[in-house]
Amino acid sequence: MGKGFFVTGTDTGIGKTTVSCALLRAFAAQGKKVAGMKPIVAGSENGQWVDVEQLLAASNVNVTRQQINPYAFDPPISPHLAARQLGTEIDLSVIHHAYQQLCAKADLVIVEGAGGFLVPINDRQNGADLAKTLNLPVILVVGMRLGCLNHALLTAQAIQAAGLTLAGWVANCVDPQMLALEQNIAALEQRLDCPLLGTLPFLGETDIAHSIGLLDTKILTSNHIVKPRMNPS
Ligand SMILES: Nc1ncnc2c1ncn2[C@@H]1O[C@H](COP(=O)(O)OP(=O)(O)OP(=O)(O)O)[C@@H](O)[C@H]1O
Ligand SMILES: [Mg+2]
Repeated sequence: MGKGFFVTGTDTGIGKTTVSCALLRAFAAQGKKVAGMKPIVAGSENGQWVDVEQLLAASNVNVTRQQINPYAFDPPISPHLAARQLGTEIDLSVIHHAYQQLCAKADLVIVEGAGGFLVPINDRQNGADLAKTLNLPVILVVGMRLGCLNHALLTAQAIQAAGLTLAGWVANCVDPQMLALEQNIAALEQRLDCPLLGTLPFLGETDIAHSIGLLDTKILTSNHIVKPRMNPS
């Protein structure tokens, strides 16, 4: 039986991996067996994919890189373009299979999307199809910076239009200079139809790794944790 959450965000580079790792560490501290998953990553650094390494480090079950990350591409471009450059295509059934392998080992799998929610993954499907295939409730990470209200509300609308549950959102303070931060957070609390799981302040690298206490995992109650669908669409 698989269970977990799909972590999406208002954009690329706004803290999806940071929040995914914080959630993995928080659930691990509660005694759960946890695995992170980054089904599709594009953009390598020195032959490594940072997201995969970070999610692997925050996992506490024995999983392979192939299970955590079935699709890895070198150029930092949209996954559908990166796959096309290699003459291949991302296949959701491959991802679903790897996800089920992780579910067999872990109590909880935290799946990080690529880029924003509607990023194309091939000529017919996008990030929403990936979340639907895994049938997971979604956590929305909002990178708190100018423009984020529009991005957050559009993303929430797309999640709900996909028929998925918005389990919660995280205010991630990626811009230490953001004006009217508290008012922006309040504006989203008023408009997003899900609980705020926590606010991550602007942190240094060391603090980020130890930010587990900042997110309220209790809100992510068991009624949000669902079985994966057996037949990917
Ligand atoms: N609260 C924060 N304070 C300071 N730096 C942060 C914070 N959250 C994230 N960062 C930094 O911002 C960068 C991007 O964060 P992260 O890798 O988590 O984003 P992402 O959404 O997963 O990106 P991608 O789209 O590439 O997967 C990282 O260097 C991370 O350390
Ligand atoms: Mg990431």
